[in-house]
Amino acid sequence: MIKLENVRKSLSGREILKGVTFEIPKGNTFVIIGRSGTGKSVTIRHVVGLMKPDSGKVFMDGQDISDPETVDLPALRSKIGLLFQEGALLASLTVGENVALPLVENERPSEEEVKERVAEALRRVEMAEDHHKYPSEISGGMKKRVGLARAIIRRPEIMLYDEPTSGLDPVMATTINLLVRKMQKDLGVTSIVVTHDMESAFMVGDQIGMLYQGKIIEVGTPEEIRTSSNPIVRQFIKGDVEGPITTAG
Ligand SMILES: Nc1ncnc2c1ncn2[C@@H]1O[C@H](COP(=O)(O)OP(=O)(O)OP(=O)(O)O)[C@@H](O)[C@H]1O
Ligand SMILES: [Mg+2]
Repeated sequence: MIKLENVRKSLSGREILKGVTFEIPKGNTFVIIGRSGTGKSVTIRHVVGLMKPDSGKVFMDGQDISDPETVDLPALRSKIGLLFQEGALLASLTVGENVALPLVENERPSEEEVKERVAEALRRVEMAEDHHKYPSEISGGMKKRVGLARAIIRRPEIMLYDEPTSGLDPVMATTINLLVRKMQKDLGVTSIVVTHDMESAFMVGDQIGMLYQGKIIEVGTPEEIRTSSNPIVRQFIKGDVEGPITTAG
């Protein structure tokens, strides 16, 4: 279970999150949609303890993780797989070494186990053949898939995907969407997916929440969001230029 309760956060003197509230039951996938710069990545950072709310609370499995006094961050992070928006691969390591990193840094696996687990994770994202390449030798979409392999290598209970399908061709985007679904089904993973890709949102989400002007203004199933009567939601999912959302919003 993940729960945000009235989370507020200012960065560089501007209030980005103005009371974000949502709850994700265990094993569910929650999709956050919203325009560029609205605070989707900032929201994700609160769930991993990379940012602390100015006020409000973040709970994971009932534990308040917004309080730095009481939270065991390494234990928390061991439960979470995070796919960074930018991929964040280390240039000096091969694809295989990048994927192995969270495993060798946090556990004491045998060499054989590392090899097996890396191969398994890379197979899931169709990158097994490329384990010896360096990040500079692969495309943007491939980097994204390697980032995903790295995020799942420790078999996390919680997965946070920041724009998992951006920069991917449509076929690979569908592969990644199916993988998100499979992680949920096979491993009972609880997930947050941040995306502007509405097709992906409808495909992977149990619930979709729209972040707008610092708040989640609407939450619903894909069907409820698709048929929403809220003009802001309607404009966003249809990508209309005309409507209540302005460039400032
Ligand atoms: N560390 C930081 N310091 C100052 N401002 C920040 C910081 N991180 C994010 N911001 C600001 O917070 C706002 C929200 O950023 P965020 O990265 O969450 O947007 P986003 O919704 O993920 O957008 P995108 O869809 O483009 O990824 C932006 O205005 C950004 O400039
Ligand atoms: Mg972002």
